[in-house]
Amino acid sequence: MGDMILLGAPGAGKGTQGVNLAKLYGTPQISTGDILRENVRNKTPLGAKAKGFMDRGALVTDEIVVDMVIDRIAKPDCQSGFMLDGFPRNLAQAAALEEMLTKMNRSIDHVIGIEVANKELIRRLTGRRVCRKCSASYHTIFNPPQNIGRCDKCGEEIYQRDDDKEETIAERLKVYESETHPLISYYTEKGLYRAIDGIGGVDSITDAITGAIDKASDNS
Ligand code: AP5
Repeated sequence: MGDMILLGAPGAGKGTQGVNLAKLYGTPQISTGDILRENVRNKTPLGAKAKGFMDRGALVTDEIVVDMVIDRIAKPDCQSGFMLDGFPRNLAQAAALEEMLTKMNRSIDHVIGIEVANKELIRRLTGRRVCRKCSASYHTIFNPPQNIGRCDKCGEEIYQRDDDKEETIAERLKVYESETHPLISYYTEKGLYRAIDGIGGVDSITDAITGAIDKASDNS
């Protein structure tokens, strides 16, 4: 599968699909949101810098996230491929990613865009619950845990993310439109963007993604 980016608005299902794809392809899922939340939880200096931006639905500064991704991609488990979830988030981050990969003699092979209309994104985000320990994601209606309030995987408490409140969701969707959406044209021009309909069962969407990757790999 090589080096891949999962693109999509907040709530499109990047995290959910990333879990399935990481299992299928055996490549690490690198979620900048998860790394930032872990830093906030552990009260690190990086977490302290990021928290204010995250709480109001704004992007954390490029400098912070780019350095984070450089460190993560350099780890040995990324040698034969990785999957970025939530990065890049704007054109400056995309340019920084290209620069870091060129230095490593590699390049992005696939950009998968999970496309979901805003109304559905809001339903997904307002109902989302996340495990405090392992970050597994649930939904109060679409994917509830077996025991209310507890993670099926590790038994830890599940909670609502601070940025999954309605006013913050509206801001995140605005930021997506202005900052991240332009990446679709950017990667389409490079011949890398594959659009996937993000409505439907989780496994059928995974099948659509793997189908698109196979097709693109056959043509290259
Ligand atoms: P981040 O954690 O990346 O949040 P996001 O992009 O807003 O994406 P989400 O995690 O909200 O959604 P998702 O697409 O992963 O959906 P999920 O699979 O969970 O970023 C958070 C913050 O960190 C940012 O606002 C920013 O401040 C900062 N940040 C992170 N990266 C940054 C960067 N590069 N630069 C600067 N700042 C950065 O699914 C959502 C819900 O829908 C779940 O409940 C799930 O169960 C449900 N669901 C999933 N698929 C389906 C389906 N097919 N049908 C029905 N329900 C479904």
